[in-house]
This record gives sequence, C-alpha cells and structure tokens, in this order.
Amino acid sequence: MSVSTGQAGNTDQQAASSTAAETSSEVVIETRGLTKVYRDFWGRQKVRALKALDLQVYRGEIFGLLGPNGSGKSTTIKLLLGLLFPTSGQAIVFGRDATDVENKQRVGYLPEESYLYRFLNAEETLDFYGRLFNMPAKQRRARVAELIELVGLGWAKRRQLKEYSKGMARRIGLAQALINDPELVLLDEPTTGLDPIGTRQMKDLILELKARGKTVLMCSHLLADVQDVCDRIAILHQGELKELGRVDTLLTVQDVTQIRARGLPKEAEDEIRAVIARHGGELLAMEHPTTTLEELFLHIVREAEAHPGRRATGLARPAEKAPAAQ
Ligand SMILES: Nc1ncnc2c1ncn2[C@@H]1O[C@H](COP(=O)(O)OP(=O)(O)O)[C@@H](O)[C@H]1O
Ligand SMILES: [Mg+2]
Repeated sequence: MSVSTGQAGNTDQQAASSTAAETSSEVVIETRGLTKVYRDFWGRQKVRALKALDLQVYRGEIFGLLGPNGSGKSTTIKLLLGLLFPTSGQAIVFGRDATDVENKQRVGYLPEESYLYRFLNAEETLDFYGRLFNMPAKQRRARVAELIELVGLGWAKRRQLKEYSKGMARRIGLAQALINDPELVLLDEPTTGLDPIGTRQMKDLILELKARGKTVLMCSHLLADVQDVCDRIAILHQGELKELGRVDTLLTVQDVTQIRARGLPKEAEDEIRAVIARHGGELLAMEHPTTTLEELFLHIVREAEAHPGRRATGLARPAEKAPAAQ
C-alpha cells in the first residue's frame, strides 16, 4: 500500500524532482522587468509580447515556460539568446547581458523549427555545426558520435535528413543544440508535432540532460510535457507572468490524502471508511484509479512490439504504478 498526500505526480515527475536536490542556488538566468514590444515597419507600437518579466533560473534545474500560443514564450527565449533586444528591462545569462558573445559558447538552442540541410546526413549535419564552433577534427568526430548515440539515431546516421520523420528531425535538432556541450540549453517547444513515443523519448532526453548537470529552460503549450519533466514552471499569458513555482507544489492538493492499495478485501475497505469517519475526515473517493492515456498508449505499443501479431483481448492494462497520476 502506498499513501501519498494530494495528487502525487507520475514517475517522471518524481524522477525529475528526486534529483532536484542537485539544483544549486547559483542563478544562471535572470530577467528583470524584461519587456518586448514588437514594432511594425514604420516604428509604430504593435505588439506588447512580453511585459516586465521577472524570473530566476538556477543551475541544474529544468525550468518550463508554459503558456498558450502567442503568450511570449519564444520571445523570452530569443531575448535570452540575445537574438532580440529588449524594449526595456534586462536579460542576464551567466551574470552577463544576454547579448554578450561570451555566452554563445555556453548556451545551446533548439528553435521552434530547425532549419537543417535536407541533403546532409546526421553525421554531416553535426560535423558542420562542430566546425562553426571551431572544434578540431578529432574532437568533432568524437562529439558527433557521442551525440548521435545520446539521441538514439545511430541506426539512421547515414540517411539524409529529408528522409527523417518529425521525431528524428527533432532529435537531430537537439543534438545540434548540444554540439558545443553547453551548460544551458534553451528548448523551444521540443515536443510539438511528435507522436506519443517521440514525445516520451524527447522527455527522457531532457531528463538525461539534467542528469548530466545541464540547466534546461524549455517552453511548451503542452501541459503534460511540462508537468512531466520540469522542476519549476512559469505560466505566461499574453506576455504576463501568471504563476511561478515548483511543479509538485503547484499540483499538490494540500488537504487531500490519497490512499492507494492493491488486492484489498472488502472488509478492509469498510474498516478504512470507519477509521476516516472516526477521525472526523470526509471520504472523498475510494475507487479504482485510471491510468493516463499516455501510459495506456505506450503500454499498448510496447506490448505490440514485444508480441507482434497479438490482437487486443480487452485485458491488456499497464501495471499500476504507485503512486501514479490519476
Ligand atoms: N517578429 C515579430 N513581429 C511582430 N510581432 C511578433 C513577432 N514575433 C512574435 N510576435 C508577436 O508577439 C506575441 C508573442 O509571440 P511569441 O513569443 O512567439 O509567443 P509564443 O512563443 O508563446 O507562442 C504574439 O502576439 C506574436 O504574434
Ligand atoms: Mg513560440
């Protein structure tokens, strides 16, 4: 039996937060009143994309910027990369202004859409980016091999990128962002357009980056992605910061205790009801939990791969993970 307070997160989230202790208090990213107003061709005010954002991201954490389309996520990332200049306020990365060229060596970037050369293969692509960072040939070869291994594209490394699926393209995009072994990685919508398997692989890669000591700032409009991997999140809406905090704290329902058990006889359930009543508590639910659609889908696909040809019996269910998201 496992007892958890509130809605416990799923296993990924726990993986993320169990290593969160390694997050240091060293500030890697800081924004102060960061504001961006896009102007049109004539210099007239057009869109207030980001309004006085104050944020701090610490070394070793996975920080998520969450918000609907147009809420200013990509604008924030571009300001942190020094690709855009703020209208007012400051973006500070590694203690320097975000536009400082010194930072280029220490930051990796996966854009919302990667524009990679369609006629190069994975090795050639990464080799090309290694050259841009003036890496010597021997180091480049080792780094390219290591990254292809990391993103799991060894089997397709000699194929031209035009033959890559969206998921493979996203993974080579991530490898490209890591070519200079950056300490800080900025990922703009890393899972958009990926199927559940591709999404799972990308999320695992992001957790792997954290395990290797990187600081990750990712943005997404997909709630589940952010919930699964991020230690802390900021929610943006129309350029304004609406919420900021640890994911587990934000998702915990403080006054609810969840009890989960397997193989419990009816009498035990009755006893539990009695205990709760005796202590003046209110029984909200005692039920058989559902799994998430993602869990179910991944389970079915894994089963299909393990047992080709087997047809659905209606009995296939992923093993209950305790504690798991409900
Ligand atoms: N280059 C640009 N010129 C004018 N407006 C822009 C430009 N880029 C983004 N915007 C606008 O700024 C707002 C925030 O955009 P963006 O940062 O891309 O949002 P998100 O990444 O959260 O979807 C949107 O209203 C968008 O239309
Ligand atoms: Mg965007």
